[in-house]
Amino acid sequence: MKNIAIFASGSGTNAENIIRYFINNETVNVAVVLSNNQKVGVHARVNKLGVPSYVFTRDEFVEGTPVINKLAEYKVDFIVLAGFMNKISEALLKAFPNRIINIHPALLPKHGGKGMFGMHVHKAVVAAGEKETGITIHYINEEYDEGAVIFQAQCEVSPEDTPEDVATKIHTLEYAHFPHVIEEVIKKNIKKLK
Ligand code: GAR
Repeated sequence: MKNIAIFASGSGTNAENIIRYFINNETVNVAVVLSNNQKVGVHARVNKLGVPSYVFTRDEFVEGTPVINKLAEYKVDFIVLAGFMNKISEALLKAFPNRIINIHPALLPKHGGKGMFGMHVHKAVVAAGEKETGITIHYINEEYDEGAVIFQAQCEVSPEDTPEDVATKIHTLEYAHFPHVIEEVIKKNIKKLK
């Protein structure tokens, strides 16, 4: 059994969807959720499903040690960022090489980089008059949204779509694909994950 930690900063609908997918799974267990914000919806959502959640300050995420200690406590093998808005520290990258993946709500390299998260991305997609957008699941490296791409899926953007409409389409794609991709990546790497 491999333990994953989910990092989330907001409402946590992806975190909930991932946890529900892996209930009774033979390979993957969602052990813990970490956040940089106590006031967001993710805590109630995941606690209701029996998964504990913890809050660390921005400085603690940047320095890394308290976060790494908490992950060790839960014997975490793999980290999934699901709507996590802080940069990942070098210390954490070193502790989890090729073991941190993120979902971005656009087709990277388009509409990525610093400040591009959540509704900011969907507004940019509509403002650019894109005919399609989508999701990108990728490994994390030192630069925002630049790690190796694992998976992409597309959806159409119609001229009448508002950023909220785009957000709905993107969430639908995320719920359909993210858990499966997580499972595949972990199964592929299972021998390397101690
Ligand atoms: C998701 O759409 C995710 O792709 C996005 O935040 C949303 C979180 O929704 N992530 C980013 O923008 C990262 N740059 P949720 O809290 O309901 O899962």
